[in-house]
Amino acid sequence: MCGIVGYVGGRPALDVVVGGLARLEYRGYDSAGVAVLADGKLATAKRAGKLANLRAALEEEPPPAGTLGMGHTRWATHGPPNDRNAHPHVDCTGSVAVIHNGIIENFAELRAELEEGGHGLESDTDTEAVAHLLEDELKSGGGLADAMRRVCRRLEGAFTLVAVHSGDPDLVVGARRNSPLVVGVGDGENFLASDVAAFIAHTRDAIELGQDQVVELRAAGVTVTDFEGRPAEVKEYHVDWDVSAAEKGGYDYFMLKEIAEQPRAVADTLLGRIGSDGRLHLDEMRISDRELREVDKIIIVACGTSYHAGLIAKYAIEHWAGLPCEVELASEFRYRDPILSPSTLVIAISQSGETMDALMAVRHAREQKAKLLGICNVNGSTLPRECDGVLYTHAGPEIAVASTKAFLTQLVAVYLIALYLAQVRGTKWGDEVFAMVQLLERMPEKVDKVLETMEPVRELARSLAGEHCVLFLGRHVGFPVALEGALKLKELAYMHAEGFAAGELKHGPIALIEENLPVVVVVPPRARDVLHDKIVSNIQEIRARGARTIVIAEEGDESVEPYADTLISVPPVPTLLQPLVTTVPLQVFACELATAKGHDVDQPRNLAKSVTVE
Ligand code: AGP
Repeated sequence: MCGIVGYVGGRPALDVVVGGLARLEYRGYDSAGVAVLADGKLATAKRAGKLANLRAALEEEPPPAGTLGMGHTRWATHGPPNDRNAHPHVDCTGSVAVIHNGIIENFAELRAELEEGGHGLESDTDTEAVAHLLEDELKSGGGLADAMRRVCRRLEGAFTLVAVHSGDPDLVVGARRNSPLVVGVGDGENFLASDVAAFIAHTRDAIELGQDQVVELRAAGVTVTDFEGRPAEVKEYHVDWDVSAAEKGGYDYFMLKEIAEQPRAVADTLLGRIGSDGRLHLDEMRISDRELREVDKIIIVACGTSYHAGLIAKYAIEHWAGLPCEVELASEFRYRDPILSPSTLVIAISQSGETMDALMAVRHAREQKAKLLGICNVNGSTLPRECDGVLYTHAGPEIAVASTKAFLTQLVAVYLIALYLAQVRGTKWGDEVFAMVQLLERMPEKVDKVLETMEPVRELARSLAGEHCVLFLGRHVGFPVALEGALKLKELAYMHAEGFAAGELKHGPIALIEENLPVVVVVPPRARDVLHDKIVSNIQEIRARGARTIVIAEEGDESVEPYADTLISVPPVPTLLQPLVTTVPLQVFACELATAKGHDVDQPRNLAKSVTVE
């Protein structure tokens, strides 16, 4: 979960590389570094802390100008985030530099072997071993790409590696296994990056690299092989968003921009799903209707916010498609003995498509012969490639570490899948599916309406900046919304926040309630009367014990007014779709509260956007 950029072409490499790193900082921001080749000499610079520290160092002591370079922004795995452990790492001769994303699992034995062979390793990282292995391999001839292929064959774990060598000043070499790397194809220049955002300002033509491939990048062209040196097939694609989508557009934080983009993101994800025959059509659903009719169980795997989307999916799938559905944290999935068969459909949800826990769960499901469907926001990422079918969300690039618009579009995706299953399995009539899709199509305007009424939520958040704990309660699909509200507050405001199923309260958590403790309650629509009445009782129970109640309920719900210290109204929508409107105030609440506490909401401490290690 680091950010990697490589460049070779006609421009000053440092500008391209540092510009790219600025767009990848969301992937890690413990330290940053660059390497540039100029006049056959390798120059490196690296600093602990955010990219700003590196920029200041580069200004103070500019490296020689060159047109080939690479850069790295780090989320530490091996060794603390200091200057020494920052990438690039160089070999003993100072002629090879390497940057790396991932974990090299056999690094301890490689390191011991290198030390025994007389190499002096200076950092605590696994990456540095690669620089020295390349040094040894270069001695056997064949050039940097050959050396990289030989080294990769010795490595275990997950890695994207990019290396340069002063002996070949027109060449950047990249390699990938289980970790992202894309090529940007320019005119007389080429790019390498963990994510297209790094080079989108220069080119929108990209090449998706497969597993276990090595890429040789020169200004004149790109060559891709496998680790044995055999030419590899690659998939070229055109990125359908532009540089403005990866910029703040006048907002103080990406998170604010991404919250505001939600109506559009939801609308875009719905676009083109209904055919002229009034039936749902899903893109890249490479699983046939016959196979979907044979499915007898669904298991959803995901992490964090995407897991919360999965929890909501369960309600929709069981209700509309009548199929049993389990939801599992991807990180736990393969460590028990999940019961899978060819008639199990495993749905993996991941914004980035690079979350290692999700990928490992998918691979485990593949071994057990289950069918695999991915829900993903990033074209060209690993997850869609490893699944039988994929439904893309069209949130556009999500840069802020805290997921917002991706979550809402994941909800749209799971609703579409549930309705599609209902359509092909005949558990709902065509007109019923169509009626529900029409309701979904009205959701962007509802989300917009919520966004227009957020000032009181911001005020409330500012007033609670001194609190140490906030609880969140919900029932039915309101329960995952409560979990999501708590997660947002934890990751952004570093506060103790817990989400509970409101019915569980009396089985323990109610002991936490004390005078003035803020408790956010997500109330289902009045149309679900039993559910609704139960939660109104829960609000009374906590209020009687001194809680300060913050109630999110549909407009016109007068029954909750007497028990709400603060009432946040959202437009009335069907129960299953309600998370699309009730989540938004919780995102705004967490973002504002964290900002009031002085935190950088785009880059919360200890976190990174894509968790590409297990
Ligand atoms: C959400 O705010 C988080 N930053 C995090 O939980 C995230 O949703 C999780 O890491 C999963 O990421 P993915 O969707 O890219 O797989």
